[in-house]
Amino acid sequence: MKRMKVWLDADPGVDDAAAIILAAKMPEFEILGVSACAGNVELHYTYDNARNLVAYTGLNVPVHKGAARPLMAEPHFAREIHGKNGLGGQTLPVSAAKHETLPAWDAIYEAACEYAGELILVMIGPLTNLAIALLKYPDLKEKIKRVVLMGGAVSYGNTTPSAEFNIHFDPEAADIVFSAGLNISMLGLDVTMQAALDENAIEKIHSVNEQGTFLANSMRQTLTWAKKLFDLDFVAMHDPCTFLYLVYPDLFRSAATGVKIELRGKLTRGKTVSDVFSDYKFADRSVDVVLGIDHCRFFDCFLEILGRY
Ligand code: RIB
Ligand code: CA
Repeated sequence: MKRMKVWLDADPGVDDAAAIILAAKMPEFEILGVSACAGNVELHYTYDNARNLVAYTGLNVPVHKGAARPLMAEPHFAREIHGKNGLGGQTLPVSAAKHETLPAWDAIYEAACEYAGELILVMIGPLTNLAIALLKYPDLKEKIKRVVLMGGAVSYGNTTPSAEFNIHFDPEAADIVFSAGLNISMLGLDVTMQAALDENAIEKIHSVNEQGTFLANSMRQTLTWAKKLFDLDFVAMHDPCTFLYLVYPDLFRSAATGVKIELRGKLTRGKTVSDVFSDYKFADRSVDVVLGIDHCRFFDCFLEILGRY
């Protein structure tokens, strides 16, 4: 089996942690490196979380520090959802790995040069690091095979009624990424909100193994928030959908569509404006927007991969 060369950029984050824990046991991937950015919580937490998750899962790949803030927007973290430390109050053994000196954008470019035409970027946080890399290295886009990102939405919002967190956190970065002519698969809230785990599912995850117990305990912070603020009785596993889409595309439903980022709307800034359900179609309709998932098979997959530890 030819393994997919993958670079992961994340803002761990409870669902980022789930994505990393699953991806580490998916042999279809050769994860070359991980980079962290500010997003769910401050960079010093997301960076440490990324390091500790990489060590905890046995991935043992370099972890690079990225942007501490959006390109232009003021940062608005999601501590109420992910807890102050970003892992729902859970802790992991501290990684003993050496600290990388190369910043995320340079490390992404180096990996793209080494694996030109093969590199798949999995982006599960704000797009700041990739935007900086694209601005600093104009030839980067030609070297990237595809970008699979969790972000945006055709019909939903979470951070605002119009915008999803990863895009809203840094709309200018998202605009740079979506305008760069990259081969993008966008997994927005339309599909990731269907990757819902209720208390029963979390209990099942808890009992699988040590990693499942860690994940279940970290998810309970998010579940408490979801119940309290929005009377929701589930946690959406947004970020793991990216890795599952790469390996099990038949679990999902997608459509080719045009996507542009709203930067100026008073109520719509950070919205991924898509022409999926519009008579009017954008000229460029090259974005693969993922709209649906087979929920039962998603959860079976989740448990099966988790059980590989
Ligand atoms: O809107 C959900 C996304 O924002 C997920 O990636 C979550 O981790 C947060 O980064
Ligand atoms: Ca994330």
